[in-house]
Amino acid sequence: MTNTTFREILVTSALPYANGSIHLGHMLEYIQTDIWVRFQRHIGNTCHYVCADDAHGTAIMLRAEQEGITPEQLIANVQAEHEKDFSNFSVSFDNFYSTHSPENREFSEYIYNACEAKGHIASRTITQAFDPEKQLFLADRFIKGTCPKCKTEDQYGDNCENCGATYSPADLINPKSAISGATPVQKDSTHLFFKLPDFEALLKDWTRSGSLQSEIANKLAEWLDSGLQEWDISRDAPYFGFEIPGQEDKFFYVWLDAPIGYMASFKNLCDRTAELDFDHYWQKNSSTELYHFIGKDIINFHGLFWPAMLSAAEFRTPTAVYAHGFLTVNGQKMSKSRGTFIKAGTYLRHLNPEYLRYYFAAKLNNKVDDLDLNLEDFVQRVNSDLVGKVVNIASRSAGFISKKFEGQLSAVISEPELLQAFSDQQQVIAEYYENREFGKAIKSIMALADQANQYIADKEPWVLAKQEGNEQQVQDICSTGLNMFRMLMIYLKPVLPTMCDDASKFLNDELSWQGLNTPLIGHGIEKFKPLMTRIEGLQIESMLDDSKVEVAKELALKAKLS
Ligand code: 2FM
Ligand code: ZN
Repeated sequence: MTNTTFREILVTSALPYANGSIHLGHMLEYIQTDIWVRFQRHIGNTCHYVCADDAHGTAIMLRAEQEGITPEQLIANVQAEHEKDFSNFSVSFDNFYSTHSPENREFSEYIYNACEAKGHIASRTITQAFDPEKQLFLADRFIKGTCPKCKTEDQYGDNCENCGATYSPADLINPKSAISGATPVQKDSTHLFFKLPDFEALLKDWTRSGSLQSEIANKLAEWLDSGLQEWDISRDAPYFGFEIPGQEDKFFYVWLDAPIGYMASFKNLCDRTAELDFDHYWQKNSSTELYHFIGKDIINFHGLFWPAMLSAAEFRTPTAVYAHGFLTVNGQKMSKSRGTFIKAGTYLRHLNPEYLRYYFAAKLNNKVDDLDLNLEDFVQRVNSDLVGKVVNIASRSAGFISKKFEGQLSAVISEPELLQAFSDQQQVIAEYYENREFGKAIKSIMALADQANQYIADKEPWVLAKQEGNEQQVQDICSTGLNMFRMLMIYLKPVLPTMCDDASKFLNDELSWQGLNTPLIGHGIEKFKPLMTRIEGLQIESMLDDSKVEVAKELALKAKLS
């Protein structure tokens, strides 16, 4: 790369809720973010990547109650499971924290107090559904009843799964609390509101900053044009969250303190890392960059409330928010009955995590489109690209170098133009990674892999090796092959960190991005071990069966608890 000014970047992925397992839909986001983060570090930028569990809210409180444990115990258990899954998928967080933390409480109070002091908080009484048995206010999704339109029973408070009608819970026929089964009553309560309309001008500016995806900028413009609403940021007790300062029995709504969790996780990292300065990254007009990777369903929180809250409290606003679409499996929404609602842990019992990292990379672009995990295509693509093309280059070249040349690569480069052509792709591939066009990066890398295979196929070192006197030629061809393999690994390092670690040991080379400009000459390598094995159809079958078993177990547990 020609750009030698290094950047300082802070990256986040959305915080997963602490009441359920990570599934492949979640993994799409963490893998997308991790590839980008690893790419930034690979080319020499400073890139910190933080995340946390999103630990507050009614759902977590109720789940803990059902399980007969405290919310603190529940969120600790879930966090341990989440961290294990992320680490197994090589997601390289610098810190994975929790929104239920002292740092997060402090920032939430600070930001709220700043908003309050500047007159951005309103207070008024609202009337809401209340469960008289459980003594708690019911959000729409905790009320069930008969659809007023098509009369289907057991529909959620705001929309009908059968006919698609949307309505208010008050319109449901025979409404019941989904928690206790009691008939809800209407009850008044005072709530606090964040005055989002105060930030219209700021948000218009931010939306036009130029670094947002056009889909996001358009969506935000649409909301801004139709008029902003005040946002209810308080919830009544009982609630698992932070109490609002100066109020009695009022808690911050989970979505108020969730994005603040990004800051809290980073602060916690700074407090443990001497050279990291929190203010340098979060102060107004900071020269550093801040990116949030999120799903398309939470654009409003990140594109409206979050920049507004940050600027009210005099912090910097995000450089950009990058949204991705949803994951479908075999062209359909993930389904528990088809076994395609696949948890990260279930996947890992059957398949190598790098297969999925590669497949997602091969299909990702920088749009908000949904991404389909087609399981047949997945098997075919991984087997043909990674095993059939990339690993094949090394396995066809390495044996000769080990057996005939004591592991030594040639002392001169025999095909400088060929290696130069590989190295010349660095600018283009770097731009694809930078712009989150991972599919295009993979396509370019695989075109190089095709060239490398073609070269070896044309030269047929295995034929030459049978006749004496061709030793130098064989060593040169295989050395070129291994140098091409090395460059492919350098390009693929953000996507396949584990395979690259193994390749790095095999080649005795750190596979740095700068290495693209310095081929290995007269260099000793280690004995070759297969770096990746083929996916067998049976592994997919077993994973789907296992997923169905998981769902059955979950249903049984639910039935036992309720
Ligand atoms: O939608 C979700 O899963 C939320 N837990 C994401 C929170 S992201 C951030 F704002 F904290
Ligand atoms: Zn209906």
